Amino acid sequence: MLEFNELSVRYGLGVEALNQISLSAPVGKITAVIGGNGAGKSTLMRAASGVLSFHGGTVAGGTVSLDGKNITGLSASGIVARGLVHVPEGRKIFGDLTVLDNLKAGGATVKSGRTRDRVLGEILELFPILAERQSQRAGLLSGGQQQILAICRGMMSSPRVMLLDEPTLGLAPQTVEQVAGVIQQINSRGITVVVVEQNAAMALGIADFGTVIEQGRVVLSDEASVLRGSADVQRLFLGGNTDEIGFAPRAIKPLERWTA
Ligand SMILES: Nc1ncnc2c1ncn2[C@@H]1O[C@H](COP(=O)(O)OP(=O)(O)OP(=O)(O)O)[C@@H](O)[C@H]1O
Ligand SMILES: [Mg+2]
Repeated sequence: MLEFNELSVRYGLGVEALNQISLSAPVGKITAVIGGNGAGKSTLMRAASGVLSFHGGTVAGGTVSLDGKNITGLSASGIVARGLVHVPEGRKIFGDLTVLDNLKAGGATVKSGRTRDRVLGEILELFPILAERQSQRAGLLSGGQQQILAICRGMMSSPRVMLLDEPTLGLAPQTVEQVAGVIQQINSRGITVVVVEQNAAMALGIADFGTVIEQGRVVLSDEASVLRGSADVQRLFLGGNTDEIGFAPRAIKPLERWTA
């Protein structure tokens, strides 16, 4: 279980991005974190994966723990070695490298060459599109394919927990559906998923649990099905649609970002 306990984060001296956030992501489940621009979603993920300092941020209080062990302040590579992987906002694939080299880069922290080859083989089998295009430059892939590559690069370290920051941002509805399917597929392999999304309909559609954050604080936390039925969530994130939305990815349209 990944747990944030009263976590506060600052950037520089002034910006308090998270203010005593507590939330947990149960093992084997999908937890969605939704919130408007600047709510603190990416900061939450950066704090968990140990990359805050690369962005000028620091933990000002509280802890992040993984399976009961405090991981706050550990190095990013140390956290990957403990089984937590963060697929950042904006994909950040290496466009000039081949698809295969991008995948290999994701496995760089795995010591055993045998394990790396086995996982690579599994991924290429699971995602034929990556196998077909493995020797092409990753920058030539479509947006959706690049997102799948970014997720699979994360999979190369055989994580137990995966943090996905806005995996469907900027994708066409049909591609959103495809990426949602990939997330479900990964979760069905027993990987705990935390997904941050502007597309609340997609995220709450595939999640077991959800948390709404606003200005660095948790405002709602419940089972995803309860949040889908919440009038506030519907008004703010689901375009005022009062129908039960269930997971019907074909019907999902990317939402405009909600600006607080
Ligand atoms: N590198 C940074 N330096 C300074 N302030 C930052 C930095 N990154 C984020 N912030 C600030 O911290 C707060 C939380 O930002 P964060 O990026 O975590 O929000 P978010 O919910 O991911 O937003 P978005 O939907 O735009 O991705 C905002 O006020 C933002 O301006
Ligand atoms: Mg963000």
